[in-house]
Amino acid sequence: MKDKQEQLAKLKEEAKLGGGKERIKSQHEKGKLTARERIELLVDEGSLDEVDMFVKHRAKDFGLDKQNYPGDGVVTGFAKIEGRPIALFSQDFTVFGGSLSEAHAEKIVKVMNMAMKAGIPVVGLNDSGGARIQEGVVSLGGYADIFLLNTLASGVVPQISVVLGPCAGGAVYSPAITDFVFMVKNTSYMFVTGPNVVKTVTHEDVSFEELGGAETHASKSGVAHFAFENEIETLLNVRKLLSFIPLNYKDRAPEKQFDFSILKPEPKLEELIPDNPNKPYDMKDVINLIVDDADFFEVHSTYAENIICGFCRIGGMSVGIIANQPAVLAGVLDINASVKAARFVRFCDSFNIPMLVLEDVPGFLPGTEQEWNGIIRHGAKLLFAFSEATVPKVTVITRKAYGGAYDVMNSKHIRGDFNYAWPSAEIAVMGPKGAVEIIFKKEIARAEDPEAEIEKKLSEYREKFANPYITAERGYVDDVIQPSETRIKLVNAFNLLRTKVDTNPKKKHGNIPL
Ligand code: HXC
Repeated sequence: MKDKQEQLAKLKEEAKLGGGKERIKSQHEKGKLTARERIELLVDEGSLDEVDMFVKHRAKDFGLDKQNYPGDGVVTGFAKIEGRPIALFSQDFTVFGGSLSEAHAEKIVKVMNMAMKAGIPVVGLNDSGGARIQEGVVSLGGYADIFLLNTLASGVVPQISVVLGPCAGGAVYSPAITDFVFMVKNTSYMFVTGPNVVKTVTHEDVSFEELGGAETHASKSGVAHFAFENEIETLLNVRKLLSFIPLNYKDRAPEKQFDFSILKPEPKLEELIPDNPNKPYDMKDVINLIVDDADFFEVHSTYAENIICGFCRIGGMSVGIIANQPAVLAGVLDINASVKAARFVRFCDSFNIPMLVLEDVPGFLPGTEQEWNGIIRHGAKLLFAFSEATVPKVTVITRKAYGGAYDVMNSKHIRGDFNYAWPSAEIAVMGPKGAVEIIFKKEIARAEDPEAEIEKKLSEYREKFANPYITAERGYVDDVIQPSETRIKLVNAFNLLRTKVDTNPKKKHGNIPL
């Protein structure tokens, strides 16, 4: 028996070396960690329960019968993060460049299936040369099996992709289906076709980093939700993200103990809105003053910065914030902002995370570029997402709520549960200037002094609409509150809504305007 135990220990030690010491050295020289080192950083110490360590590929062609490594280029298993379970896979670039074979895919599929049964998140660490070229179509089939499971698991368990090396060709579509994509600056890249193909087809000269690096995807394409400087920072932030989200769609996000007796007004909130309604201010200052411990975990922080999305705790409860950012493009809603926020809203709603909307929006962005690229259908995504969401939904209008954007940003009409306005709120069909030029066109044209007439009408319009009281008279906002009271109101609202139940009509699924 002792011999057999020793043999097992030896086999496991060998398997842990993946493609061997030379290739591990080369991985380190590229500034990358190995699949196992990454897992160690990601999960609670000693919590990995690995499976399929001895799985090998079954291919024979192109000399593969002579090269076979236990594990076949991916470490899979189950582990804990802050004591809570996850399923994971970590591709091992030292074995055939982490390329995906039939057996490699089967290992990933196995942990994903278990994650869905057990109701636990899936974290995938991607570092792969794509389909194992020598295996041909079975490798493509393996990808398709994963894509199908990514799709079936969507909305059942959270899925997080961490791209830590190459991710090219059709392989990009697994991360793309998952809920959040993390990338590392300078060592990870994602593209459908690489720089060489781009050069041949479009004659563009573009580097790997520029075409599909972390900064490109975090700021230009929106494919990556997070881009960090190095692997350690990236993996620690995966842990942080998981601390805000539940294990599955039936679970609730982990709550922190909260002492209600420490709640008090926050006078600094009174000083944030400038007297001039056309002057910007930073909505992140508002956020930091109303969330617990000024701890806000932003998602997509460098993409469509005119809208802010992220997680926080309010009264100990995990809450998703969607906030217009008046400091960027005046907080206008454009295509990218609509799509970014719509996806975030749907994530929160899928996983029972209450939502807070902070609203200061002058409307949708005008112009041919926006219209021709479909602001109508993209804006509709955000409207659809908010309308469909049944989690607790609270809105605070800090300043502007104009036009369609008033309806879209979780208005009472689309099932906002508690809608508050600050005294600085301006709620109307459109901003004063545009409105006056339309409704008083004839009077202005007839006036002896048109400029003076415009000024007079502007002040009439402002007096009528540049306040929250007409809206409050209708009950479209539940209360007009002092800014300093906001945090107290929010803690109470989310606490009351803890037991909220709301449903949508029975259907196969809705048809969100994609
Ligand atoms: C088999 C592969 C491989 C692959 C890399 N390797 N990619 N083996 N299938 N797809 C092996 C190499 O032979 C090498 O083996 C080791 O991995 C490391 O590769 P290097 O080229 O030495 O590394 P590096 O210089 O860092 O370059 C990494 C790379 C490059 C950029 C990823 O290897 C590469 O271009 N690979 C091919 C990428 C590709 O075209 N894949 C198919 C994409 S299409 P040794 O033994 O020397 O260590 C696709 C379709 C998916 O994936 C469709 C889904 C629907």
